[in-house]
Amino acid sequence: MTKPYVIDELISAKAIAARIEDLARQISRHYAGTDKLVVVGLLRGSFIFIADLVREIDLPVEVDFLEASSYGNAMETSREVRILKDLRSAIEGRDVLVVEDIVDTGFTLHHVVNLLKSRNPARLEVCALLDKPARREVPIRATWTGFEIPDEFVVGYGIDYAQRNRNLPFIGKVRFTDPAPEGAA
Ligand code: PRP
Repeated sequence: MTKPYVIDELISAKAIAARIEDLARQISRHYAGTDKLVVVGLLRGSFIFIADLVREIDLPVEVDFLEASSYGNAMETSREVRILKDLRSAIEGRDVLVVEDIVDTGFTLHHVVNLLKSRNPARLEVCALLDKPARREVPIRATWTGFEIPDEFVVGYGIDYAQRNRNLPFIGKVRFTDPAPEGAA
């Protein structure tokens, strides 16, 4: 069970789309000329971001997915990162772009980057839509970040609260309304 809450818009769908165009331009420039780019989405949170991002990247890309988990349904991140689904592709000698929805404590990204680097890609960079630096426990940064955000509990555009709200087209922040939302019967 979740406590009653409402969602306030933090980043609009339009702002996200504009920022993705910028990010894709920078990424396309960085990897210009390559035919060995594999874009790796971290499930489940990055599924919408990666779909929009790859459509703006002006290069041949292969798309693959990896699922790592560091949360349960709770709001706090545990330090244990488990790989629930590994890549289908071998990445040795490839150009790898890891796509993440949010970097919070940094444990997930740290673990995934170390794992993928151990497979000897030619290059490995990270693009994260959101960065919450106030929460960082592991010193890691994405190569490209969409938006730096304050320490708010965010949902939408792929990001869930208790597996809901991933389908919101914008990034919202969760505001708990105890005992009931305004206007509720
Ligand atoms: C969330 C989010 C990031 C990670 C960030 O994933 O999508 O991958 O946590 O947290 P961290 O920087 O503190 O490690 P989650 O494990 O909730 O899985 P999901 O993507 O399936 O929602």
